[in-house]
Amino acid sequence: MKQKCAVIVCVSLLIAGFASHSAERVVKPTQAAMRLKLTYAQGVLEGITLEKFDLVITNAAKLRDMSQTNVFVLMGNWDYRTCRTNFQASVDALTQAAKEENTQKASEAYLKMAQSCIECHKTFRREQFVRSQLHITRLENPNPPERNQP
Ligand code: HEC
Repeated sequence: MKQKCAVIVCVSLLIAGFASHSAERVVKPTQAAMRLKLTYAQGVLEGITLEKFDLVITNAAKLRDMSQTNVFVLMGNWDYRTCRTNFQASVDALTQAAKEENTQKASEAYLKMAQSCIECHKTFRREQFVRSQLHITRLENPNPPERNQP
């Protein structure tokens, strides 16, 4: 009997857990595809660190392809295109370095690529943009409003 109760409690906790989880997470249609960038970037890093250059090449090719799909080209905005072009250039440099089996060059290109991920996100993802703007205002304002208060 005790065991049965324990099972019931466990199952209901699980169900409650799933329900609240799905309720608070808003999944955008592009999210799953966009998150794949993390998987490929991880593959690139693994390839560079373990000097498995074929891994770098295949994952860079996936990142390159992704940046040409509709999901990535969601905005016709010119700044967005510049970000995307910079990103593609860094991925191309990465592929070239991997073909030459040059770890130093590949790691430099990887850093550039990571910077272009961050740059585009800071500019084009709304919540990230707002946060970076708040940060800039705080740095530039010598008398932030909170300090003027008694
Ligand atoms: C040219 C601009 C651009 C570049 C470069 C870029 N992203 Fe994104 N990324 C976006 C935009 C815009 C979204 C939001 C899409 C949406 O919300 O529908 C996004 C979404 C994501 C998400 C999903 C976030 C979530 O809500 O779960 C991840 C993860 C991500 N990007 C990782 C990366 C990584 C890693 C790189 C570099 C390898 C990268 N991105 C490069 C524009 C970019």
